Amino acid sequence: MRLFAALVPPDEVLDELERAIAPHVGQVPGLRWPERATWHVTLAFFGEVPERALPDLRARLARAAARHPVPALAFTGFGAFSSVRRARVFWAGLSGDSIVRLADSVRAAGRRAGAGHTDEKRFHAHLTLARAKTETDLRPLVESLAGFTGSAWRAETIRLVESEPGPRVRYASLDEWALAPAVPG
Ligand code: 2AM
Repeated sequence: MRLFAALVPPDEVLDELERAIAPHVGQVPGLRWPERATWHVTLAFFGEVPERALPDLRARLARAAARHPVPALAFTGFGAFSSVRRARVFWAGLSGDSIVRLADSVRAAGRRAGAGHTDEKRFHAHLTLARAKTETDLRPLVESLAGFTGSAWRAETIRLVESEPGPRVRYASLDEWALAPAVPG
């Protein structure tokens, strides 16, 4: 099974993003915009995980969640991989350092449980809003969205999600763990 771990922002925060991008959805040739119901912030992509590794992965994710206080986050602007000029993935970026520590811990949980994929790239917190099959210049799009700052929010849980292959990507949430209580301040 193909698995990843993610945070799902609260509805009000997703509303802000949806309002910001609404004038552009369907307007940029070559860009495909996944449905809002699929939006998430990936903490770690595990790739193919053998079914027998699942109990260990769950236990490790539960421990990682219990060790990490709820991170304070905010969407801060828009960008693209690999670059805005040559974009394949258009995203909203997140500020907040605590998510990087959480992602490191969740990646380590996957490695130790024997998940198939090891992320070598540096973690860059983002929520994918659109994808392109070929490299696309998104400078006009990103410029027209400059100035966006989302409200602060706190991720309360980590979710383990299965990505079901097929013509249309489908995600099934397998489990969810509460993060440790937020540190005051
Ligand atoms: P993305 O949002 O940047 O596309 C499920 O596929 C999630 O895992 C997506 O959010 C995707 O990130 C992320 N992911 C990270 N590495 C991946 C990989 N090698 N293949 C597929 N998805 C990956």
